[in-house]
Amino acid sequence: MKVSVFGSGYVGLVTGACLAEVGNEVVCIDIDERKINRLNQGEIPIYEPGLDGIITRNMASNRLRFTTDADLAVAHGLFQFIAVGTPPDEDGSADLQYVLAVARSIGERMQDYRVIVNKSTVPVGTADRVREAVSEVQSALGKAVEFDVVSNPEFLKEGAAVEDFMKPDRIVVGTDNPRTTELLRALYVPFNRNHDRLVCMDIRSAELTKYAANAMLATKISFMNELANLAERLGADIENVRVGIGSDPRIGYHFIYPGCGYGGSCFPKDVKALERTARDVDYVAELLQAVEAVNDRQKLKLFDKIKAYFKDSLQGKTIALWGLAFKPNTDDMRDAPSRILMQALWNEGAKVRAFDPVAMHEAKRIYGERADLVCCENADAALKGADALAIVTEWNVFRSPDFDAIKAALSHPAIFDGRNLYDPTRMQALGFDYFSIGRTQGTISNMAKG
Ligand SMILES: NC(=O)c1ccc[n+]([C@@H]2O[C@H](COP(=O)([O-])OP(=O)(O)OC[C@H]3O[C@@H](n4cnc5c(N)ncnc54)[C@H](O)[C@@H]3O)[C@@H](O)[C@H]2O)c1
Repeated sequence: MKVSVFGSGYVGLVTGACLAEVGNEVVCIDIDERKINRLNQGEIPIYEPGLDGIITRNMASNRLRFTTDADLAVAHGLFQFIAVGTPPDEDGSADLQYVLAVARSIGERMQDYRVIVNKSTVPVGTADRVREAVSEVQSALGKAVEFDVVSNPEFLKEGAAVEDFMKPDRIVVGTDNPRTTELLRALYVPFNRNHDRLVCMDIRSAELTKYAANAMLATKISFMNELANLAERLGADIENVRVGIGSDPRIGYHFIYPGCGYGGSCFPKDVKALERTARDVDYVAELLQAVEAVNDRQKLKLFDKIKAYFKDSLQGKTIALWGLAFKPNTDDMRDAPSRILMQALWNEGAKVRAFDPVAMHEAKRIYGERADLVCCENADAALKGADALAIVTEWNVFRSPDFDAIKAALSHPAIFDGRNLYDPTRMQALGFDYFSIGRTQGTISNMAKG
């Protein structure tokens, strides 16, 4: 089948590459010329396990092409996927300018029947706006080419995006007619062999399903963080509580890890956008407001602990920071807790020596050269000359470090662990001042001695 994908970011690139991998002819289009040039030279602009092999293979067999040419993209695909960004607007609602720009672009150019498939995360009612945008352009041009609009939200996880796309839990398809359901079913056959994963529904429900999924996951995290904060005050250990509740199959172990807050390009903006959508229909979504507020506070948790440890005086202190990406296996730093922590440290006059296994280039792109940020080549280098260590992302490589070397390198034997990677009792035995999230030993602190 012929497919065009607008937007070659985390979602568009993975969608295009995986659809090509199963035999479709795919054209990926982006307005970012630099990104397209890099892709055409075989450079993959994002870190996503397994993606580079698929892209290289399918480019070589000509099933996957990259372009900035909208004429080519609209002429090519029966399916016109929209996978562009929907960042938060000033008031928190999803900014639809990129989605609607693509809709107009398709409307201007299409000469034959097209299925416009929206994969971007968009508020309920967006499919209607896409349809209107296409129709408006068409009527201005005196054309009336037939088209359908489908909602096909994406549930892939960064860091496991290829696997998620190739073996999805579910493929949600929101349509308003059986013809498009069948076309989408045919396109997704290769991903649907083991059992039927297609969940077909009306368009508005499909649009809401994506927000419901992300809001539920964010709620689980904020709930655990709320409990972690309580556990600290009550002398309980949240890790014991986690195992104690996770064993109940109605609760489950997934997504109940306490930590220094959720980040990334989806949860923060989607919770905000859903809350904003609620306001638009005169509903106060109090739970969503709380989920967001708890998370905002949680992102400062490590900073609060560091500041208290150094008796409110961070001027001239240097903090080693392990982990910049919002989660392991990605280089994505959008809304990452590391950014809030670094900014808070800088505001107090501290310096940061940072290391992340794959996000260093992203940190350099975001922050450029600045005296209070040293981008280090490895985890050991980040420790050199630092006063304490903070861990923000649970990369595997940080799970079992050389604690003697850490202690020798730091001027204070202090570790602030935002992901509960280590055992507090062991850390105490090793002579560390160890601060984690929601665990009593992590809060019984020796204040900094110097
Ligand atoms: N990243 C994720 O894990 C994830 C998961 C599920 C859903 N989503 C949703 O998918 C959408 C895309 O997210 P992303 O992370 O891939 O975004 P991204 O920022 O990585 O990529 C978006 C791309 O769209 C391009 N673009 C903008 N306007 C364009 C236009 N008119 N024509 C062609 N390209 C254009 C941008 O240049 C950019 O390369 C968002 O709505 C997001 O919420 C993201």
